[in-house]
Amino acid sequence: MAEPARLCVTNQKGGVGKTTVAINLAGALNDRGQDVLFVDIDPQGNATEGLGLLEAYDAEPPTLLDALVDPDDVSAEEIVYDHPEMDVVASNVDMNAASSALSSAENAEMRLDRLLSQLEDGYDYVVVDCPPHLGVITDNGLYAARNLVIPALAEPTSKRSIELLFDYVGALEMDHDVTIEPCALVANRIENTNAAAEMLAWFDDALPETPIYRIRKRVAFQRAFTDGHSVFEADEEIDMSEVFASMATKLDERLAKEEVSA
Ligand SMILES: Nc1ncnc2c1ncn2[C@@H]1O[C@H](COP(=O)(O)OP(=O)(O)OP(=O)(O)O)[C@@H](O)[C@H]1O
Ligand SMILES: [Mg+2]
Repeated sequence: MAEPARLCVTNQKGGVGKTTVAINLAGALNDRGQDVLFVDIDPQGNATEGLGLLEAYDAEPPTLLDALVDPDDVSAEEIVYDHPEMDVVASNVDMNAASSALSSAENAEMRLDRLLSQLEDGYDYVVVDCPPHLGVITDNGLYAARNLVIPALAEPTSKRSIELLFDYVGALEMDHDVTIEPCALVANRIENTNAAAEMLAWFDDALPETPIYRIRKRVAFQRAFTDGHSVFEADEEIDMSEVFASMATKLDERLAKEEVSA
């Protein structure tokens, strides 16, 4: 079986919709019949909570942190949790110590890559939800999953956050001699304002090669989060699920099929 396509949902700016996009993109891929391993590397554990796995966040060791420090000491059963739509490597409160625990370790930013190579057999996709800061945890996400999905609010602050992210990614590519590519920009929480329209135009100019998806502000995302699943499992009809479905289709064309034909 081909190796899974790995996606890194990232933007160091807080509250822009990383977790919302990660969960709903994973839900869309599952809805297309793809097997998804979701990985929450954010010490906040929001995705873990939004997938109804709070007990995993509070679980005793061994946890994701132990698996990053020494994958040989931890078995998949100890850190991979079941969810109706996907399997989940849950975050855990111990991940708050990850930056200091890993910073002195050798190859600190390659730990997730090594862990995934042990866990990802049989999946079509790995979706990684990053924390809202740059540093060793996000480095692990970027190094392991080199296909970026970048959520950004349609507001002027996104200009600097995207420029900063690309500078940072460029430096990581140079340091490690790897290629990290944006494969989707998700303009999120769009409202009907001139400022939003201007930013959508800016995204088009700044990322001419990258597919840009437009997600409007919908309270249904919060309801699905509270209910512990993606909008694809919700009872209500949600118009924005079509946008996630088309993102999943496009990613399949770009990533999964490439590997099949390789
Ligand atoms: N399209 C949307 N419509 C309405 N609410 C949204 C939308 N996208 C995200 N939200 C809400 O905005 C808040 C922040 O979203 P989310 O947690 O996904 O951002 P994040 O980038 O993961 O945050 P952090 O940087 O803390 O990890 C959440 O309450 C979420 O439900
Ligand atoms: Mg988040």
